[in-house]
Amino acid sequence: MTSKAKLLISLREKQGTPASGTSLAKELGISRVAVWKIVQSLVEAGYSIETGGSGYLLDPAKEKDFLYPWEFGERESLFYHYKNTESTMDRAREAALRGAAGGTIITADKQSAGRGRNGRTWVSRQGGLFFSIIERPRLTVADYSLVMLVMQIAAAKSISLICGRKAYLRWPNDVYINNRKIAGLTAEIAGEGDMITYLTGGIGINVNNNAPSQKAVSCAEITGNQIMRKMVLNTMINEIDSVKKLYNTTAAYSQGNRALCEEWNSMSDCIGAKTAVFEPESKDDNFAEKSGRILARGAFQGIDPAGRCIIKTEEGKLYFNQGSVSLAFLNVSHNV
Ligand code: BTN
Repeated sequence: MTSKAKLLISLREKQGTPASGTSLAKELGISRVAVWKIVQSLVEAGYSIETGGSGYLLDPAKEKDFLYPWEFGERESLFYHYKNTESTMDRAREAALRGAAGGTIITADKQSAGRGRNGRTWVSRQGGLFFSIIERPRLTVADYSLVMLVMQIAAAKSISLICGRKAYLRWPNDVYINNRKIAGLTAEIAGEGDMITYLTGGIGINVNNNAPSQKAVSCAEITGNQIMRKMVLNTMINEIDSVKKLYNTTAAYSQGNRALCEEWNSMSDCIGAKTAVFEPESKDDNFAEKSGRILARGAFQGIDPAGRCIIKTEEGKLYFNQGSVSLAFLNVSHNV
């Protein structure tokens, strides 16, 4: 952990009482001048640290919701943060091509060209959590959706924990609360031969931002409180780790992952819902009405172990891969 991360932890532990430069220097094993320099750089980054006769004071009441790498302690070296960038997907791709390790996370406070699935725009207002995670799974390209199932399950679990209300999954990669979208995920993959070289999972969660339409909702609207984005991100990272461990997704599967698929199905609110299957549409709105040609109608039966959706039609069951179609669920009516 860098001295900056350690100093921040140390100032927070003091809970609003000042700490002298000498005591901080001793605790961190650095010089008083080095402490002073780190404090200056934190102040420049926006922290409100007061410097007085008794030392340095970080007022807990004035803490802001920063996503700087040093906010993530031991994981600091895996984080990159942008105040404003076109899309974290672009920054993640560049980092992956430079050789960034699996687990690297790119965050942004705002995105000027945030993107969703199928070429749609992802409106990325201040207060939302926007990040991309680089994964280097030992999986074939055909199995990439398993990685997305892990991230989607982890996102719903995290959001349920934070909102104190059950969040549900919708195929292919959405998270809903109360019939309103609270998070969306997308993926970009690079492969060599059959194998994935890297996969970038992009995740957008409405945390404190105004949701872009009535069909969407934010954590703040559900809970009535402002939520720290770094807390949401930490929860998400921990959940990804535990879902990966639970379902042993590091092994190379070619037949999908039955246990992971069962978990996904148990967390979806659309099983049995009347469903229309469309050609993937491309519209300038996260929550556009479906506009492509209808390919099938039937009942959504969940996913199979490979992450394909199953639609029961009058002619029998149809299976669709992620990315090949988009779905409209016509009668999801619960309100939990
Ligand atoms: C969707 O619902 O269509 C997926 C939305 C994914 C949005 C996230 S925000 C962080 C990352 N950067 C992007 O440009 N997109 C993803």
